[in-house]
Formats: sequence, structure tokens, C-alpha cells
Amino acid sequence: MDGLARLEYRGYDSAGVAMLDEGVLRTEKSAGKLANLRQALEERPISGDGAGIGHTRWATHGAPNDVNAHPHVDGNRRVAVVHNGIIENFAALRLELEDQGCKFLSETDTEVTAHLLGIEVAEHGDLVAAMRAVCKRLEGAFTLVATSVDDPGLVVAARRNSPLVVGRGQGENFLASDVAAFIAHTREAVELGQDQVVELRADSVSVTDYDGNPVEVNEYHVDWDASAAEKGGYEYFMLKEIIEQPRAVADTLLGRVSADGQLTLDEMRLSPEDLRSVEKIVIIACGTSYHAGLIAKYAIEHWCRIPCEVEVASEFRYRDPILNQQTMVIAISQSGESMDTLMAVRYAREQRAKVLAICNVNGSTIPRESDGVLYTHAGPEVGVAATKTFLTQLAACYLVGLYLAQVRGLKFGDEINAVIAQLATMPEQVERVLGTVEPVRELARSLADADTVLFLGRHVGYPVAMEGALKLKELAYMHAEAFAAGELKHGPIALIEDQLPVVVVVPSPKGRSVLHDKIVSNIQEVRARGARTIVIAEEGDESVRPYSDVLIEIPAVPTLLQPIVSTIPMQVFACELALAKGNDVDQPRNLAKSVTVE
Ligand code: G6P
Repeated sequence: MDGLARLEYRGYDSAGVAMLDEGVLRTEKSAGKLANLRQALEERPISGDGAGIGHTRWATHGAPNDVNAHPHVDGNRRVAVVHNGIIENFAALRLELEDQGCKFLSETDTEVTAHLLGIEVAEHGDLVAAMRAVCKRLEGAFTLVATSVDDPGLVVAARRNSPLVVGRGQGENFLASDVAAFIAHTREAVELGQDQVVELRADSVSVTDYDGNPVEVNEYHVDWDASAAEKGGYEYFMLKEIIEQPRAVADTLLGRVSADGQLTLDEMRLSPEDLRSVEKIVIIACGTSYHAGLIAKYAIEHWCRIPCEVEVASEFRYRDPILNQQTMVIAISQSGESMDTLMAVRYAREQRAKVLAICNVNGSTIPRESDGVLYTHAGPEVGVAATKTFLTQLAACYLVGLYLAQVRGLKFGDEINAVIAQLATMPEQVERVLGTVEPVRELARSLADADTVLFLGRHVGYPVAMEGALKLKELAYMHAEAFAAGELKHGPIALIEDQLPVVVVVPSPKGRSVLHDKIVSNIQEVRARGARTIVIAEEGDESVRPYSDVLIEIPAVPTLLQPIVSTIPMQVFACELALAKGNDVDQPRNLAKSVTVE
């Protein structure tokens, strides 16, 4: 239970344990925080004599209730399993297992693995072999940890694209998704590679690949203390969440294309007929989510040619917006609980508009009250200022745009697949940007005493500039403002004075060259008036170099997708500047992660 408490930051929708007690598999599961499970175990204690497994859940498939809580068991209660990640082909596997007579209790993707393991163990009597066989059938990202009544001292685990570490103790060994869970017992850890299976007993650890071949493992000593361990060794959750962005984007894109090459969205309860009848889209959101909406407008209008408005949720219902059955409202909210957005959703539904939610927290109020939902799979975000959830919201918005284009027959399948293929490279591009941000940190530290920073952008770069300015306000408590670069000359240029830092987001010269050339002129205009220009531009774009006091290069990506990479230097800049000022970047003053008042 202490180990689970140390992992609770990763998810607290529900928790559960399974232990073997005199050959019987006993489980206890409770929705909500770990405290509920503790209480349930006080009322119904389990005193196991075998290995035990436990889980704290961040729901992806199925509401966060008792039944969907892990561990899951097979029909004969021989095997218990906990799972992190998403099993992409679970729907097909579930149908196959139901045909064979398996009864499913939950709505989770995880439960298929319990039934599959149960069948394999019944046939071969060996949990390790069963795990290998099952993993070969799974697509997606997963860490699985299982026990079986047939071998009470054994825990078997496997991983693909989700974390899993072994803790080596004296006469005891541990498995967890991060070292925080066992650091009170041992600091000797073993890192597991991709597609590996580990067989763990109190006195032995053996690691093999999915074919049973032994593999080399990397052993290391953990020198963090317990609280640093929860943050993966980072001082702040925000730093960890910035680093997690490649994984978060990849998880959000995972499982969206069906076997026949069609884009499928998870709980899109809106029918193709509904979507074909849409005449107007209105996006509502607050804060960072609003900026994701502004970017979505460019993609949706470009791909689908449907007029798209974007509005801050708190203003929406007070202006008597024109809504009807042919209007689709997209509500973007990380938490799914922002009161402003929720009220706007209720208003839109009263006016008979169809509401699609894009949310990160499974089972939260906004998706529950909407007609359909597309979940981002960023995992829990603890830092108040949104980072990884913003990038995943962008990915989700692009998916919605492409889905609409598909359903309405506006693009050929291969055109849609080409954009999906570009999106699929984004995690790698995000990783590349993260590898090159050290100079951004240095720059931020050098600007800790500045009073004002201005941000300029055009096209999708404009909302990115707005997000850069918001991050700086939230974290560094500085005056920061964003302008559409073309609007500068109509007033804001009067603000420019000697050495004023101006951050400029430059579109690709290969995209719309007019746009690029115009912004190069804008950079020259502010520089001529004394500004210190900090330019974020595509690598190889030499035309901006002569006008850049500081040049931050980002990878070349398609114009509409550029925000996924151009936002990252902004996040790092604001975070580092705030740290240089001694601010708490996880809990900035006056703010809350989820604002449930209007
Ligand atoms: C709060 C947070 C922001 C967030 C906004 C919208 O103000 O501090 O970081 O962007 O709410 O939250 P939501 O959960 O609806 O995306």
C-alpha cells in the first residue's frame, strides 16, 4: 500500500490489489483515491501468503468505477493482471474471446489480457510462457503484471512502450512503473528494455524476450530520495511533464486507425450522418485549451472547409450565440471540469447543438455531458501550467479535423493517411526539439530581470505566441503579450524600445512563402526600433539569421503541424525563467489546475 501511495501521482481514479491466500486469488478494488482502498482493506483484510500485485488507475477505457479498477481476473480466477497503457486491438480480441464464451465484467481494454492469460495458463500451466504468448498478440503500449494461483511465489511482467522497473532487494524483489514505489526498500534497480518479460520471485529475477531468449539488462543504483523519485528525479513535475511530451503525443495518436485503414475515434458517439449535417463548428475552451482551439480552427477550416469559430468559454453563452442542430460545438478541456467550459457545453446542448469533448481526464463531467468524446492520453498532469496536455490536445484536434474530412468524403483515404503519417512522426520531432533546448534555458536565465516580453506570430504561429505569453505570465509573473505580427504596425509597435525582448515564431519558408516573407519583414521592423529578437524558425531557414539576436531552430514539419514543435521552446523558456526567479512552477501563485467556479 505504501508503494501504491508513492505511485498515486500517476493516477487516482481507482486502486486495487490482488493477493494469493492459501491458493485462492483474493482481490479488493475501490473507485477513487487510495484512501478508499485502504478503508476497504480494513473492513475486509487480505492476509496473503503469496505474491501480490496492485495498481492505481488513470482511466483510459471505461469509467473510473469499482468494476473497471484493476486488477482484472480471468473467468476461473486463476490469473490476476494489472495494466498500464492502451491495447489498441482490444476490441477485436474481446469479440474473439466472447465468441469462445468468456464473460466480460468491465469495459476496460485490460480485461482481454486476463482472459487470454487464463486460457494460456490453463493450456500450458506456465505463467511465463503464457505472458510471452499473450504479448505477441497485443498491439499498442502496455506494461502488464500478473500472478497465478498455480505458482504463488511468482510475479510475471512484460512491457512494450510503457515503463517498468525491477527493484532488487535482499530476499525480496519488486516491480513497479517507477522506482518511487520501492525506494524505501531498495535502491538497486534493473531497467527493462522494449518487449521483455520478467519472471520475479523473492530470490530471483530473470529477464527474457518474447521468444524466451535471455537478454542483457541494465542494473543501476538510484540516488534520488523518495520525493524526487515521484518526479522521476526532476525537481518539479512540470520539468518531468515537458520531457514526457513525446510519449504523451504518441499515446494520443495510438489506436486511431482501424485494420481497414479508416480513422476511428474512441467515444465519438456522433454518427456519420450527424457529422455530415454539420454546417458550422464552434470551439469553446479556457486558458491553454483555448489556444489549442485557435490552432484547430486553421486545420479544420483548411481540411474540411467548414466555418469554425473559437471562443473563450466564459464569454460564449452571454453573447447569445447562433446555434442549432447543424452546429457542432467542440469543448476542449484537460480536466473536463472547468466550470466555464461546462456551462458553455450545457448551454450549447440546450440550443440543440451537438457537443464533442476533447478531454484528458476519463469520466470527468464535460465528457459525461457531451454527445461524444475524444480522450487525449497525456496521463496525469500535476503541474498547474499545461504542457504535455496542450500538445496532446493539438494531436486530438488534428484527428478530429481529419475524421470530419473522412466522414464527409472531403479527402481521399491516401490524403488522410499522408497527414496521419506526418502526425506519426511528431513524437520523434518533439524528442529532437527537447534535445536542443539547453540554449533556451541559458537565454531564459539571462532575461530573469526583464519587465516585459512580447511574442509575435502569424497563422498557426499566432496562437503559439499567445501560449508562450500565457506560460510566462502564469509561471514567471511577468508582463507578456502576444500579437499577430501583421497587427503590430497598427499600434503595439509603439511598445518597442531598446533591448525589449521580442520572441517571434516563424512559419516554414517551404509552406506559404508569403507568410514567411511577411514575418521576416516584421522581425526587421521591431529590430530597427531596438528590440532584441529571439527567433524560433525552421532549421536551415537562413533568411532570418541576420535579423535574429538569438536563433532557436526547430525541425521542418508541415505548416499546420508546426505548433507541436514550436511551442516547446516557449514552455522551456517560461519554466526556466520562472525557476531563475525562484518561483514554484508546479503551483504558481493565485492559480488552480482546474477552476470549478465561473
Ligand atoms: C486553469 C489552468 C490552465 C488551464 C485552464 C483550462 O486556468 O490553470 O492551465 O489551461 O484552467 O483548464 P481545462 O482543464 O479546462 O483545460
